Amino acid sequence: MKKIMTLLTSLIIIGTTSIAFATSPGDDPAAAKYPEGAKIYAAKCVACHQVTGMGIPNAFPPLKGSDYLMADKKRAVEQVLNGSHEEMVVNGVTYNMPMPFQVDTHQDAVHVINYVLNAWGNNGGSITLEDVKDIEKVR
Ligand code: HEC
Repeated sequence: MKKIMTLLTSLIIIGTTSIAFATSPGDDPAAAKYPEGAKIYAAKCVACHQVTGMGIPNAFPPLKGSDYLMADKKRAVEQVLNGSHEEMVVNGVTYNMPMPFQVDTHQDAVHVINYVLNAWGNNGGSITLEDVKDIEKVR
């Protein structure tokens, strides 16, 4: 029994270490560049859009390689600030579940969108607070 417990404990330790390793800035150039955004992603987005940025097929759209995201950065900032409640086609797949608002400030929305624009090999450029200051916060 003691052996089994030790084994289980080491498996848990290995598991946690590899998760920490996989998300450490050293492995993720986007997290090194946008650390605040990476933190917000890990806290608020990962449950639906996943560590891989691939989402969940037919439920939560991908952010990795998303044609929809790349088409309009400002719209993405608005979606995390105010939520999104419309049917959309992402990489040829239709999604229409609502996304509740995710962040409280324009600055946090810009941080996390700059992260996702560049995570997982995305090459989506960046957006500034100045670009989005006219977005009205709707709650
Ligand atoms: C509860 C699950 C959930 C969480 C948490 C969530 N999203 Fe979403 N997200 C969705 C769904 C569902 C849609 C599709 C919304 C629609 O159809 O209006 C979506 C759409 C998007 C889109 C536009 C579509 C695309 O794939 O390019 C972006 C960008 C986005 N989310 C970013 C984020 C970011 C950044 C966070 C964290 C700050 C986040 N989401 C947190 C569920 C979620």
